[in-house]
Amino acid sequence: MKPSDIITVINGPSLSQLGSRETEHYGTTTQDELMEMIQDKASMLGFKVVFIQSDIEGELVRAINSASGSSLGIVINPAAYSHYSIAIMDAMAAFDGPVVEVHISRVFSREPFRNNLVTAQAADAFIAGAGIRGYLHAMDILYESAGNMEV
Ligand code: DQA
Repeated sequence: MKPSDIITVINGPSLSQLGSRETEHYGTTTQDELMEMIQDKASMLGFKVVFIQSDIEGELVRAINSASGSSLGIVINPAAYSHYSIAIMDAMAAFDGPVVEVHISRVFSREPFRNNLVTAQAADAFIAGAGIRGYLHAMDILYESAGNMEV
């Protein structure tokens, strides 16, 4: 696989519980179903996907660092770490390609602490409140950033 064909999709803590976790915010689609949707979209766009979910900050940092030089872009939902992880923000800033940060829920209309978006400061694009479709929109952004479309 050429690096130009590969994207890395990263989910942070408790996103493995999608489908049953706070469905009023995150909907009823499970993470497995989300991965299938991401795979289908990737096939349409001609991407290969590396998918990582971890509850552990250091593993997320390592996943971002490992994507450098091997993935053309990253889609990341750092979940709760979005609000305070400088380590993840630094890793995103060091990545040598576009990073799109996704939040399933409308973070701005929830608790005030969710307005503090630390990792997003290192994101090239930010999508929140589009539900799980946000991941698919993020993939479109990477597709366009890879020079596949005039914008
Ligand atoms: C989330 C929003 C975060 O505030 C929260 O901690 C999550 C999920 C989202 O996708 O809406 O775990 O990132």
